Amino acid sequence: MKKIIYFIWRGCRLVIIKSLDKYYQLSFHLQLYLIGVEHGTHTRTYNACPALLISRFAKKVKFGDHVTFNNYFNTSWYTKCKIVVKPNAELTIGNYSGMNGSLIYCCNSISIGEHVDIGGGTRIYDTNFHSLNYLERRNTKTDGRNASSKPIIIEDDVFIGTNCIIGKGITIGARSVIAAGSVVVKNVPADEIWGGNPAKFIKKINENN
Ligand SMILES: CC(C)(COP(=O)(O)OP(=O)(O)OC[C@H]1O[C@@H](n2cnc3c(N)ncnc32)[C@H](O)[C@@H]1OP(=O)(O)O)[C@@H](O)C(=O)NCCC(=O)NCCS
Repeated sequence: MKKIIYFIWRGCRLVIIKSLDKYYQLSFHLQLYLIGVEHGTHTRTYNACPALLISRFAKKVKFGDHVTFNNYFNTSWYTKCKIVVKPNAELTIGNYSGMNGSLIYCCNSISIGEHVDIGGGTRIYDTNFHSLNYLERRNTKTDGRNASSKPIIIEDDVFIGTNCIIGKGITIGARSVIAAGSVVVKNVPADEIWGGNPAKFIKKINENN
């Protein structure tokens, strides 16, 4: 009896998951269309629709082919992807890149290359959010505008581990790896592993890694 109930439950669950998936894809693509986000083929979301807070006055927002947004997955089962693009800001995500319950907060410019893997709970933001001057911080209307912001570039084939913070003005060179839980505040050259807070050089990547 238990076995039969189990299989019925599994079947119902599968039907519900498939229906929800269809709803998420539809809702996601409708939002992309309404906001006017340029995107390639097979751009996809899993498990939920990412929070898309993209200004109609953004300079450019482009997702390539096969870009994936995983929500509530593995290490980020408690969180979903959130993409914020402010007026005049520019965000591009290259082909075959994907993220897992991550936040991208773009006030200036963020460029993510192709085949970039972004681990669960990672935060990428090109701004300090607040002014460093306490008097400016008191004015909640203008504070954000006075915050320092600089472009971020993440080159092709970079792997960013879970729960990292990538700060403003950072370039991460092609094929490099950022260790889990790192706070990246200095540029990372290509083909290196960096980690820690603040992230420091760990080792070169070579064919034996
Ligand atoms: C960085 C990483 C790739 C290194 O893997 P590895 O090549 O097998 O390296 P090792 O485990 O042998 O560690 C190499 C060195 O890096 C250090 N290191 C490893 N992980 C680190 C971390 N998260 N932060 C800081 N230093 C780290 C180790 O202490 C070691 O230092 P040592 O040489 O002084 O002893 C791996 O630790 C990691 O963080 N993977 C990310 C996993 C992840 O988040 N996946 C995403 C899931 S959504």
